[in-house]
Amino acid sequence: MTHLSRAQLQQDLCYINGQWTGAEQTIPVHNPATGEQITSVPLLKEVETRLAIEAAHAAGEAWAATSPKQRAGLLRRWFDLIIEHTEELAQLLTEEMGKPIAEARSEIAYGAAYVEWFAEEAKRINGDLIPDGQASRIFTVVKQPVGVVAAITPWNFPSAMLARKLAPALAAGCTVVAKPAEQTPLSALALAKLAEIAGLPAGVINIVTGDPVAIGRELCSNALVRKITFTGSTNVGKLLIRQSADTVKRLSMELGGNAPFIVFDDADLELAVTGAMNSKFRNAGQTCVCANRLYVHASVYNQFVEKLTDRVRKLRVGNGAEDVDIGPLIDSRAVAKAASHVRDAVAKGATVLVGGGVHSLGENFFEPTVIRDVTAQMLVTQEETFGPVAPVVRFEDEADVIRQANATEFGLAGYFYSSNHARAWRVARALECGMVGINTGLISSEVMPFGGIKQSGFGREGSHYGIDDYLIIKSLCHGDLN
Ligand code: SIN
Repeated sequence: MTHLSRAQLQQDLCYINGQWTGAEQTIPVHNPATGEQITSVPLLKEVETRLAIEAAHAAGEAWAATSPKQRAGLLRRWFDLIIEHTEELAQLLTEEMGKPIAEARSEIAYGAAYVEWFAEEAKRINGDLIPDGQASRIFTVVKQPVGVVAAITPWNFPSAMLARKLAPALAAGCTVVAKPAEQTPLSALALAKLAEIAGLPAGVINIVTGDPVAIGRELCSNALVRKITFTGSTNVGKLLIRQSADTVKRLSMELGGNAPFIVFDDADLELAVTGAMNSKFRNAGQTCVCANRLYVHASVYNQFVEKLTDRVRKLRVGNGAEDVDIGPLIDSRAVAKAASHVRDAVAKGATVLVGGGVHSLGENFFEPTVIRDVTAQMLVTQEETFGPVAPVVRFEDEADVIRQANATEFGLAGYFYSSNHARAWRVARALECGMVGINTGLISSEVMPFGGIKQSGFGREGSHYGIDDYLIIKSLCHGDLN
């Protein structure tokens, strides 16, 4: 196969039933760093979504009947193509989403790792044999694909979040209709192009772009769709849950977070500052798992804040296509939210040590910010900022900081730094969240079960647990065995 260029990977049409399909109306896709329009993609609504669902349903029987080895082979080929096109996919991703090109390359590798992982897991969908009290009976448990899956993915990781959903679904024998975020459809369409070249049959992957409300409503209400997997805000997640009630679908929800990041007095401070930088400023703070509230013990507070501020001051902001650390935020609304959190904190007594406002580069850029003397009364600790703002709260004792950390409706990720083994075990268990980073600010990996509790959602992605959400368990009772 000839290597596709970035231009050849850019698809401006939807992918339905193996056909690249347009629509009369389109929606523009912009580069958030420059404001320029990159292209436009079809504005699909209910009718076209229904066609995609029907295509996925029609392809389902044959796909489910393929052997795990066949599915593994196709996924493996897709993985190889993604890796081979890392640079082109990363360029496309940076252009439509804004993140620095180095982070975009990491995201492509991260997403590809899920494809590789689930290519392997496809061969390990094992059942059970369960003996019964009666000698004449035995039970077997078989696992079968759920059926048609609808995957709704966010703009902050437009490539990896799609790969993380498509790979286990396809490995399990499900077919998929995916709807990428309106801001970032190109990464999804490029992945579909590579899947087509890899030989995935028509109808197995379908990508619809367009009106999120109309597409979401059809995906949730159509009885042919047996599962919804969603990554995005808690508010949209709740709407999808409500809309799916009438057809009683399987659901996986990876929703918002408000991660605490705790630095105890026995922490290695250098390590903790590096962890805070990694967790807080990855993707300009636009990750669901990023540190949203930093709690630092009073005895090391000033030292930590000083070191963090020094590091943040050195961050290079600019167009993600250049050699920078922080790109634009997704749009000016995201900038306005970060700015409002800083304003609210200052009005309530906090002090900005660096940054704090809209960057001179333009309305989509926000200055990397550190704020000290932050309290629980401020919006910046109560809501997900989703921007490059590090608010630092002072605390005195372990029980109190755990209480503060858990005082949120969210429960996705949490982090803490301590060199005390017993404390590490105690705090890790006490934090109310689905994932905990202990002496690290970077937790994501395809081998780890990713997901939250409380209003951060349910279901797990990645790891050997990640395929379960795409499988039904069927019990077979074998009688008359004497
Ligand atoms: C997210 O922000 O939802 C995903 C972050 C990750 O997978 O690391």
